[in-house]
Amino acid sequence: MIEQQLTYSPFDPAVIEDPYPVYRELRETAPVYWSQEASSWVLSRYADVSAALTDPVTFSSASGVFPVPPGMKMTEMLLPMLVMSDPPRHTQLRQLVSKAFTPRRIASLGSTVQTVVDDLLDRVPGAGTWDFVDGFAGPLPAIVIADMLGVPREDRDRFRAWSTTLVQGNPLRGELHGLEAAAALYDYFSGFLAARRAHPQDDLMTALVQAEVDGRRLTEDELLGFCFLLLVAGHETTTNLLANAAVLLAGHPETRRRLAADLDLLPAAVEELLRYDSPVQGIGRTLTGPVELHGRQMGPGESVLLLFGSANRDEQAFPDAEVFSLDRRSERHVALGRGIHFCLGAALARLETRIALGALLGHPALRWDVDLSAAERLRSGPIRGFATLPMR
Ligand code: HEM
Repeated sequence: MIEQQLTYSPFDPAVIEDPYPVYRELRETAPVYWSQEASSWVLSRYADVSAALTDPVTFSSASGVFPVPPGMKMTEMLLPMLVMSDPPRHTQLRQLVSKAFTPRRIASLGSTVQTVVDDLLDRVPGAGTWDFVDGFAGPLPAIVIADMLGVPREDRDRFRAWSTTLVQGNPLRGELHGLEAAAALYDYFSGFLAARRAHPQDDLMTALVQAEVDGRRLTEDELLGFCFLLLVAGHETTTNLLANAAVLLAGHPETRRRLAADLDLLPAAVEELLRYDSPVQGIGRTLTGPVELHGRQMGPGESVLLLFGSANRDEQAFPDAEVFSLDRRSERHVALGRGIHFCLGAALARLETRIALGALLGHPALRWDVDLSAAERLRSGPIRGFATLPMR
């Protein structure tokens, strides 16, 4: 057994602040690392992370995909469907939800996203501070998901309040100040489902109720589970892609001006933002058999944390990986996963971010003056981003 020289814990406050130096050390000196705190092996190189993502038989999702600190237990009830399942169940579920989550449906959301963005930006104060998370990056994805599901406008504020509470604590780590919110949402979704069964509409909820593959439909529990998964998977991730983007663009005025002058660069910018400061820093798998890698032996039943945040900064895959640049080819990044669990909401996340950044770059009152000393980082879970991000 090779001695471990360095220490790495995904829960260390210094790592949460800036994980990139220790990621580099991991890649260079301990590409297969045992983290005591996370009770998990840690893979940090691009090639190893991609290989694991594309071998779902050996690297299983069924026992959960988030690292859990010692003493915490994931409860059965909170394991969202789809993301924590393996084939053949995953294949079947994914086929079913893909029937409703079509590229056409997502593309048609462009004007909705634009309206929500414009409404939120109308409320930017002319002077003083504005919390970018609370005032923009937080509400945007929640409202878009609500709209997509078909939540009526008059319920939007209630829905947004519940979903914000739900994702503030990390339910996968048992942080359930969101429990009541979850219960309220559960009731809401149940009633809503029944209403759509009785009176179909042109919305995602109706499409989900009607989706059918080989004569099978989603069960009530699967439908409710999927609604929750959309909120959990699509809310905080997008919020923090936007928050990290705001900080990066604030710190790179040249890039910002170049983007503002040529909005055709936006798609490339979104990919580079995803690569450079990935909102999902890592996701776990459980081994179904022994794996030997870089001289270390991992055993069946053991957890493996795949560090997307590190893979995306690997020099072997991205020359000058530590440089934020619009002139590179970033789209090989693994920020949205890869293989059978590749992010189902990728097109939506990209659409929202392009429209949001385009509007922010063109906003006359916005000075991109981020007050990092007053900003608060997220401290829970695998998401990298901010709880608050004041802008002057
Ligand atoms: C920037 C924003 C986002 C990021 C960084 C992100 C990242 C990811 C990643 C890394 C995975 C793979 C998980 C794994 O391999 O275990 C994933 C899966 C998933 N994402 Fe996203 N996501 C984002 C936005 C969204 C949105 C907006 C939605 C939906 C509204 C969404 C829905 C899903 C779903 C349903 C899955 C599970 C797919 C499966 O297991 O087959 N995501 N996402």
